[in-house]
Amino acid sequence: MTEIEAIKVRHSVRKYLDKPIGAENIEAIQECMALCNREGGLHFQLVTDEPKAFRNGVDWPKYGKFEGVSNYIAVVAPKGSGGSEVAGYYGEKLVLLLQALGLNSCWVGGTFKKVKEAYSVEQGEELKAVIAVGYGKTQGVQHPQKKTVADVAVNKSSAASFPDWFLNGVEAALLAPTAVNQQRFKFVLHEDGRVEAQAKFSIIGYAHLDLGIAKYHFEVGAGKEIFDRTSL
Ligand SMILES: Cc1cc2nc3c(=O)[nH]c(=O)nc-3n(C[C@H](O)[C@H](O)[C@H](O)COP(=O)(O)O)c2cc1C
Repeated sequence: MTEIEAIKVRHSVRKYLDKPIGAENIEAIQECMALCNREGGLHFQLVTDEPKAFRNGVDWPKYGKFEGVSNYIAVVAPKGSGGSEVAGYYGEKLVLLLQALGLNSCWVGGTFKKVKEAYSVEQGEELKAVIAVGYGKTQGVQHPQKKTVADVAVNKSSAASFPDWFLNGVEAALLAPTAVNQQRFKFVLHEDGRVEAQAKFSIIGYAHLDLGIAKYHFEVGAGKEIFDRTSL
């Protein structure tokens, strides 16, 4: 499965089967995670067989209710918005790998309990979110599209219309997971062909984490081999 195929079939899954994710998958996740940590200056950690984070006795409303989660990625990164953006970018690279491995996932920023002994957070770092990992009971459903290409694509170039690669990037970004599906980002095409990704203010938070995720999708959609102009 290519990354663009993974983007098209990935949806958040909150109910998981009681089925181990398997040694081969763990190895593949660890390998990709080590690369993300190296490239991004991150401290992601895979936590396995740890059911407490998602069994906290709190009866969350329908949104945010999880079942059967005992594996997750602790998204630990440098404090601040820059760290959040890089964490989103590389976390989504991992999410697409999980999908390609036949696993399911869900970014979780709020509706879980921090189990501090399960991962380490060094000075200057913080736990931004976790990514639940496992075999889903279902494959999830496509999120409602709150935004259209016209809402998030901004043309500051002199071209009369957007080039295909840019539109492909924006369409992939619109399939990205964002906190409560807020999709509060814009992609601006400048005269010199540079693309600027902007996070719009969000009262809910997670704007920079969401932006990093959307950027990763944009790059995959636009074509990484021809597109290397979004800057992190
Ligand atoms: C940064 C971030 C934080 C999230 N936090 C939660 C959460 O606390 N609880 C939850 O159930 N889902 C959470 N989600 C999942 C979103 O609700 C979901 O991605 C969004 O509704 C879009 O749906 P999709 O992922 O199926 O495309 C989060 C997603 C992101 C990107």
